[in-house]
Amino acid sequence: MDGNGRWAKRRFLPRVAGHRRGVENVRSAVRACAEKGVEFLTLFAFSSENWRRPADEISFLMQLFMVALEQEVAKLHENGIRFKVIGDLSRFEPRLTRLIADAEELTRDDTRLTLTVAANYGGRWDMIQAVTRMLKERPQLAGGFAETDLLPYLSLAYAPEPDLFIRTGGEQRISNFLLWQLAYTELYFTDTLWPDFDTAALEQAIASYQQRERRFGRTSEQMRDAATGNPRRRVSESR
Ligand code: IPE
Ligand code: MG
Repeated sequence: MDGNGRWAKRRFLPRVAGHRRGVENVRSAVRACAEKGVEFLTLFAFSSENWRRPADEISFLMQLFMVALEQEVAKLHENGIRFKVIGDLSRFEPRLTRLIADAEELTRDDTRLTLTVAANYGGRWDMIQAVTRMLKERPQLAGGFAETDLLPYLSLAYAPEPDLFIRTGGEQRISNFLLWQLAYTELYFTDTLWPDFDTAALEQAIASYQQRERRFGRTSEQMRDAATGNPRRRVSESR
């Protein structure tokens, strides 16, 4: 969710006003995704690198996160939305980690949409913590292990790999988001700043996704055969 600061600057407002608008936009994005039947939405809210920002901006962001949790969690639950946070929570103040734990607990059995907020998250951090935890529990894997051994230890183990990645704000990079999980994800970059990324913009991103062909390393022909249930031989005969 990039571009809050620039959104504010263009209006001669302080950066924090952009963050406030950004949170409002999270609310409408979550609602739109739930209405469209999206089952997993993962938002990159705060990266491990964002600690480098000025202290007052960081503390404003933390405050904003806490207020949003206090105000929104009951509504998430009412709407069947499961709430999760991934990231290294050890640097957050106890009040925030308590709010997060309570929110996760309250919504744990909600199934309509899983909303994950990545906070103090980094894709490299995630892989390291996963390997570390795995080897602690299963030291015999130190000599070698498979992807399937590692998967349960990744932060997003409960979610399928994402179909679509959206980055707002004009930058065309991953910036240490879900490095493992994005291997086959369709990437979508837009200049629209996060506070301006409304439902129409989301629909445009989804429409772009729907035009793409996802082959996962296979050929177009194989994908078509699989979709129609035809064995390869019959498809080539018909052409
Ligand atoms: C994204 O907006 C929000 C957070 C990282 C918390 P930015 O704050 O990065 O906004 P720009 O990039 O300065 O416009
Ligand atoms: Mg930015």
